[in-house]
Amino acid sequence: MKLSSQILFLALILAGGVALAEGATDPDVKARQELMAANGAALKTLGDMASAKIAFDATQAQAAKQALVANAAGILDVFKNQASDPAGHASNAIWTAWDDFVGKAGDMGKAAEALDTASAQSVAAGLQAIGGTCKACHTAYKAS
Ligand code: HEC
Repeated sequence: MKLSSQILFLALILAGGVALAEGATDPDVKARQELMAANGAALKTLGDMASAKIAFDATQAQAAKQALVANAAGILDVFKNQASDPAGHASNAIWTAWDDFVGKAGDMGKAAEALDTASAQSVAAGLQAIGGTCKACHTAYKAS
């Protein structure tokens, strides 16, 4: 697979979960899902620029990067209460392995921080690393 199609594929998978946000009523779970949906939207914007689906725009790329940096820091806040909801997909393992979960949120923050938003090429180069941190946490802590 070419790099650009890999990125598009990744962005689609991660953005695909947005529809799941329907239906949660617990305020913590809603806040988590909204934060994650915003992650999906930011990653999709960057992925669309990296694969030239939309025109590169440095201001928009920077805004998406900043949203990811802020969301990575905000993850701990929206997950600190072990709230649950039938429409939620957070694994209980989050609260038995909290330090590891915190580490995975930190990895996302570092990868987002490191993103160079100067060009579509530099965005493409950093996007894989960010997507890898989303996937690592979902594999460990997102129940299907
Ligand atoms: C530290 C762990 C962690 C990281 C890092 C993480 N996620 Fe998540 N994500 C979760 C968990 C847990 C859920 C399930 C939340 C729920 O349903 O209560 C989730 C859910 C989602 C959802 C579905 C939201 C919904 O509406 O139900 C999307 C989309 C998503 N994440 C995108 C991303 C993207 C994109 C990134 C990386 C930029 C990312 N996530 C990084 C843990 C993480």
